[in-house]
Amino acid sequence: MFQSKIAGIGYYVPKNVYTNDDLTRFMDTNDEWIQERTGIKERRYADRIGETTTTMGIEAARIAIERANTTVEDIDFIIFATLSPDYYFPGCGVLLQREMGMGEIGALDIRNQCSGFVYALSIADQFIKTGMYKNILVVGAEKHSFALDYSTRGRSVSVIFGDGAGAVVLQPTSEPGKGILSTHLHSDGADAEKLAMYYPGSSSGIWLDQDQQPDWPKQELGGMLMTKEMLDDGTAFPYMDGQAVFKKAVVKFPEVILESLTKNNLQSTDINLLIPHQANLRIAQFVQKTLRLGDDQVFNNIQKYGNTTAASVPIALCEAWEEGKIKDGDLICLAAFGAGFTWGSALIRW
Ligand code: UT7
Repeated sequence: MFQSKIAGIGYYVPKNVYTNDDLTRFMDTNDEWIQERTGIKERRYADRIGETTTTMGIEAARIAIERANTTVEDIDFIIFATLSPDYYFPGCGVLLQREMGMGEIGALDIRNQCSGFVYALSIADQFIKTGMYKNILVVGAEKHSFALDYSTRGRSVSVIFGDGAGAVVLQPTSEPGKGILSTHLHSDGADAEKLAMYYPGSSSGIWLDQDQQPDWPKQELGGMLMTKEMLDDGTAFPYMDGQAVFKKAVVKFPEVILESLTKNNLQSTDINLLIPHQANLRIAQFVQKTLRLGDDQVFNNIQKYGNTTAASVPIALCEAWEEGKIKDGDLICLAAFGAGFTWGSALIRW
């Protein structure tokens, strides 16, 4: 069995900065509310045309590949995590493969929302461990800004999310005790509809309450992808029961972090840096308090980027590394929780 390590890491955020004050041009909101409830000061939005989840993923991937001292030709597998793909299908993995000029290697897309990157990393880790692949590109990228409701109706969701991408290259390591020590994945579909984008989807709303179901066109077949009424009444946009997500997150984050520590006979005092998914600064602070971690043991950058879903963990990991907050031999814990609900952690000896 091989052990895998993060050999290179990169991130990309679009140049367009939208402060909380900027959002007041579109909706009834204010800087004080957003900062107090989420910690967010500003976020980045991709160019409306020309910049996509895939193009941002490519920017991050190029940096990660270079830092891994490897080349595009060496990459032997792609895992791409996103909930905001360029197309409904196919996924972003093949678009990245094509645009980066990679060979006919496998490309896998992961749909696990905020925990997408941790899931992707775990899958990559298994492939490296078995020796099947030697240079796996793992990408987490999101372009949320194209599909959020920027009217006052959608403000509790739209102010939170931002665009961006992060990537790592995973390789086998021969250094004993180094690299990914373990990963832990969980899900519970009981609350699947509490954070979701229902349409377009094949369910035609059968899982939803009667009053949430749209009035579909009366025709024998087809015509159920999206209707104009759904844009008008807001059912076309992502839905989030923020308080339900919050309550579950503050329980599952500490649980899955402790699970990783217990598995490796370690304690929270051993963690050099926790990189939590940047969902809400208050959630991260709650987790910090529960695990009795010091300020220097937790990294947050949601203030600058908002919640970038599958991109948030690799962006934060990369930024922490670039700022010199991650050193050789450090114990790093990645943890995420999000729609599904799904959650997970990865413990890494850097
Ligand atoms: O990464 C994916 C996982 N997602 C999360 O982890 C999100 C978890 N949840 C949260 O972060 C929080 O629930 C939110 C930040 C989404 C919302 O905060 P909250 O404290 O739960 O607020 P709320 O939705 O209960 O709304 C409280 C009030 C409401 O007004 P009334 O009914 O009390 O008069 C909202 O209409 O705040 C109002 N409100 C806003 N006001 C100004 C909601 N959004 C806004 C806004 N600006 N953007």
